[in-house]
Amino acid sequence: MTSVLSSIMFKKLLHKWQSAAVIGEGLHPGLLEKCYREKVEDKQIDYDPAQIEALKALQKLLEKLLIDNAQRQKTGFNKSRAALLRQSRNLYLFGGVGFGKSMLMDLFYENCPIEKKRRVHFHTFMLEVHEFSHHWRKTGNGDVILALAEAINKQASLLCFDEFHVIDVANAVILDRLFRRLYELGTVIVSTSNRHPDDLYQGGITPELFQAFIERLKEVSDIVELTAEKDYRLIHVKIANTVYNTPITPETRAIMENRYRELAHCVQLKPCVVTVLGREITLAAAHGDVALSSFKALCEAPLGPADYLKLTGLFKTLILTDIPRLRADNHDEAKRFSTLIDALYFHNVVLICSAEAPPKELFDSEINAFFLKRTVSRLIEMQSEQYLNRTR
Ligand SMILES: Nc1ncnc2c1ncn2[C@@H]1O[C@H](COP(=O)(O)OP(=O)(O)OP(=O)(O)O)[C@@H](O)[C@H]1O
Ligand SMILES: [Mg+2]
Repeated sequence: MTSVLSSIMFKKLLHKWQSAAVIGEGLHPGLLEKCYREKVEDKQIDYDPAQIEALKALQKLLEKLLIDNAQRQKTGFNKSRAALLRQSRNLYLFGGVGFGKSMLMDLFYENCPIEKKRRVHFHTFMLEVHEFSHHWRKTGNGDVILALAEAINKQASLLCFDEFHVIDVANAVILDRLFRRLYELGTVIVSTSNRHPDDLYQGGITPELFQAFIERLKEVSDIVELTAEKDYRLIHVKIANTVYNTPITPETRAIMENRYRELAHCVQLKPCVVTVLGREITLAAAHGDVALSSFKALCEAPLGPADYLKLTGLFKTLILTDIPRLRADNHDEAKRFSTLIDALYFHNVVLICSAEAPPKELFDSEINAFFLKRTVSRLIEMQSEQYLNRTR
C-alpha cells in the first residue's frame, strides 16, 4: 500500500517538476528591459522612462504567452482552452509618431521564443485577407472567416501588426469576426497604432458597426499608451541633401532624370507597365530595381496598398517627380501618397523625389488626416543617412 501511494506521489511530483521546467523555459523576468538597457549602453537608443513603461506591458504579455504555451503543451489545448483564453490578452500599443512603438514591438517579437509567430504590416495583412476571401469564394465552401482564422492560427499563435489602421466599416466588420475567432483559437494579437481605438473612426455610414468592432477590440485587449515626448525619428537624422529636391524647376526635373540614368545605367527613358491584380500601372521608366514615375501617375490614379506593395517588391529605388503641395480638396491624393510612403518606408525602398515644398510644408493644415503627420516624419527620415544605409 505504502509503495503504491509513494509511487502515485512520485508521479505527481515528477509531473509538477516537469511542468515547472517547461513553464520556466525561456521565461526571464525583465528580459525586455534588459535588452532595452543594453541598447542604451551601446548608444543605439536614448533611455526613455515612457518606453520602459510600455515595455513592462509587453514583458507581462511575453510571460503570459510563455506560461500559456507551456500549459497548452502539458494539458492539450482543448481541455484548457477556456482557462487559457482568460490568460493571454491581446495588446494594442498606441502613441505619437516616432515615439518608438515599432522598435518596442520588434524587441518583444525578437525575444519571444514562440515558434509560430508572424510580424506583418497591417496593409499587407489586409491584402492577404482580401485575396484569401476572393480565392475562397471561387473554390471553397463554408464560412470564409472561420476558414481564414483556421489558416492564420495554423501559421501563428502570435500575430504582430505594425501600424494597425482601420477606418472603413467593411474592414471593421471582417476584422471583428476574424479577431474573435482567432482569439478563440488562441492566437494573440499585438498591434501598434498612432491612435487610441476610440479615435480610429473617421466618419462614414453605419458607425454602429464600426463601434461594435472597437468595443470588442477594447474588451479583449490591453490598451497601452506610449507617452514618449519626442519623435525619435527626427532626432538623430542627419540629412543627405541629394534625395529630396525642392522646389520644382526645370533644373530639378533634369536632376531627377539624370539620377535615374545614373542609377539605372541606362540612357533611354522607356515607359514600363506593371500589372497588379489585373490593373496596369504605367511608370515613366524602369530598369533593374530602379523606377521613375510622376506623383500624378502613382497618386492621382485610383491605386491602393496592393499596387504600392507590388512596387516595393519590384524596386529598391523609386524616383518620384513633381510632388505638389496638397490642399483640402486633394484628400484622396494625400491618402494615397501617405500609403505609398508607408509601403516604401516599411520595405526600406530609397525614395528620390522632387517636390513643390519641403515635407513640413507639403500638406495644407486644412487636410484633416492624422496619418499625414507620420508621412511628414517619414519623408524626413527617408532623407537621412541612417535610413539610406539601412536600405543597402
Ligand atoms: N529611445 C530611442 N532613442 C533613439 N532612437 C529611438 C528611440 N526609440 C525609437 N527610436 C528610433 O526612432 C525611429 C522611430 O521609431 P519607431 O519607428 O519605432 O516609431 P513609431 O512610434 O513606430 O513611429 P510611427 O508612428 O511613425 O510608426 C526609429 O528609427 C527608432 O529606431
Ligand atoms: Mg511604427
